[in-house]
Amino acid sequence: MPVTDIHTHFFPESWPDLAARFGTPDWPRIQHTAPGKALIMIGNRAFREISSACWDANVRLEQMDRDGVDRQIICATPVLFAYNREAQHARDCARLFNDAALELCARGRGRLRALCQVPLQDIDASCAELTRCMRAGHLGVQIGNHVGDKNLDDPGILTFLQHCAGEGAAVFVHPWDMMAAQRMPKYMAPWTVGMPAETQLSLVTLIASGAFDRLPANLRICFAHGGGSFAFLLGRLQNAWRRKEAARGAAQFPPHHYLGRFYVDSAVFDQRALQFLVEVMGADRVLFGSDYPFPLGEERAGALIRESQFSPDTKTKLLGANAQTWLGLPLEAAAPATTKAAPTDISSGCPVRSTAGGADAAHKNDDAHAGKKLTYSSYLQVPELLRLQHPESSPEHHDELLFIIVHQTYELWFKELLHDLDAVVANLRATCENPTSRDGVYEAARLLRRCTEIMRVLVEQFTILETMLPTHFLAFREKLAPASGFQSEQFRELEFLCGLKDEKMLRYHELTPETHAVLFRRLREDSLRDVFFQALEALGTLQPPAAAATEEEKFQARAKAIHALYRDERHHRDWIDVCERLTEFDELVVSWRLRHIQMVERTIGIRMGTGGSAGSSYLKLTLEKKFFPELWEARTYLEG
Ligand code: HEM
Repeated sequence: MPVTDIHTHFFPESWPDLAARFGTPDWPRIQHTAPGKALIMIGNRAFREISSACWDANVRLEQMDRDGVDRQIICATPVLFAYNREAQHARDCARLFNDAALELCARGRGRLRALCQVPLQDIDASCAELTRCMRAGHLGVQIGNHVGDKNLDDPGILTFLQHCAGEGAAVFVHPWDMMAAQRMPKYMAPWTVGMPAETQLSLVTLIASGAFDRLPANLRICFAHGGGSFAFLLGRLQNAWRRKEAARGAAQFPPHHYLGRFYVDSAVFDQRALQFLVEVMGADRVLFGSDYPFPLGEERAGALIRESQFSPDTKTKLLGANAQTWLGLPLEAAAPATTKAAPTDISSGCPVRSTAGGADAAHKNDDAHAGKKLTYSSYLQVPELLRLQHPESSPEHHDELLFIIVHQTYELWFKELLHDLDAVVANLRATCENPTSRDGVYEAARLLRRCTEIMRVLVEQFTILETMLPTHFLAFREKLAPASGFQSEQFRELEFLCGLKDEKMLRYHELTPETHAVLFRRLREDSLRDVFFQALEALGTLQPPAAAATEEEKFQARAKAIHALYRDERHHRDWIDVCERLTEFDELVVSWRLRHIQMVERTIGIRMGTGGSAGSSYLKLTLEKKFFPELWEARTYLEG
């Protein structure tokens, strides 16, 4: 996994005189003062002293090797945003520096990648420039955190963010043009006070305006400098949300619910701050960012994370794995070939010896991802799959891997079950449209047979987990709280899809809005049970219920329709097959519940569950649940 510094800036060695080109004063220009040294000038004012690290790829690569950084994501500096200028000038300026960024990347031996900039005062032009840049090789975009008086919740900016999600572009939000400038003339206060406050304001507006509720869940957005003061003051924000209507705005959920919607970088320069940031945001949401090569950047890029007390797994995430996700790159991409130094073993934080095999492997992976050579591994994404097991125990308990793999296997099969049962519903729907055709009924029965075979395997699989001694499980169980099977989205989806709908269960998914939305949709949709009886109505076996019919009368009518199918076996063999498969599936789900309870009792006795339930005594109540009760009811009336 390449160690990736996602927050670095660049300046080209030279660029055209923009003041002369556009006929407006005070555009940034570069004034070289000595070999390898320059000043950024705004008009005649010296804005910042910079060095050749800003424009010379070799200097950057040497310093990256020194610090054990495999890859940098470069972006322009906010002083070039030009959001307060004529839109066309800002667009031309963006194009100029976006192309210059790619030129620098081209000299970076595959280790420099770029984010573009856009003229955010003009949304159409911004969308067009982003699309152009994504095609040219940029990985995303850096934007300022406001455009004049418009915060990030401005409808135009939200449209742009939607466009970014559609383009698969990573978005990096950098504070600029700091508030209350007249009160911060000294002490670099705009950097030390203004920037953190600007970023916090951006996050608060995105949350409270309800923007995160409307923006696509696949938007990958990251905020600079650890998200400013946001994490530290989240408690204050929560308190205000709870107690004051005005603080809530249009947000559907309390502020902490949106933590899973954005990333922050690690540029906080203090171990306790980083520790706290990771605690608040989660280890998957913090990305290594150094602010290289500017004066307030991390002196030894990555040292803060490497010298932290985090587990090797967390360091791996922070230094590189999270960046892969944010940038939308494949997780198994190996470190790119370095100039002199070896790629870095990011779990230990130490540079290790490079081998030709490492670089070759990286290229093979790239090829496979570009669709050139499909291999067993690349097709099945085996490397990614094998990297998805992250035990929480430290030192790692031998049996925790088994515990994770068994659960993951269940989830994969749940996914296949949902896939097949959705297809069963679609086939039964097709039968409603065309009741005389037998194709849909046949296909539904065929797929249901697969579902029952999968369920049989799932019932059996608990025995593998029972090879774990209760004492061994208890050695790491407390590390898992408050995670619980209650939070298995797919299990609940299966229940809802089959017809067992309990809205109360949504409360276990409030922390994950996307999951909540999926379950909410399942709750509202027709279930397999509903569609099955709609098909029997279309067939004429079941009469539509009278408006005044009670639930009990409707239930009995449906059971009698099943009864009628079985009595006329010669004409309804295919439907009876569907009924038998559904009954068998129901039976196997009850067997699954029973085996789960036996395993729970064998492992934790009558202890409470990590999800807060009474444990096995609660689970026993679920044994009465049935997906298709009418199929069971009908059996009472059947005769030989
Ligand atoms: C040592 C192993 C296990 C123990 C001790 C255990 C324990 C429990 C307990 C106590 C509950 C009740 C909810 C709570 O308070 O947390 C529960 C629920 C659940 N567990 Fe497990 N479990 C184990 C393994 C598994 C496995 C392998 C799966 C496979 C997917 C699984 C899936 C579920 C599901 C889906 C629920 C929710 C059931 C419902 O709401 O009807 N569990 N588990």
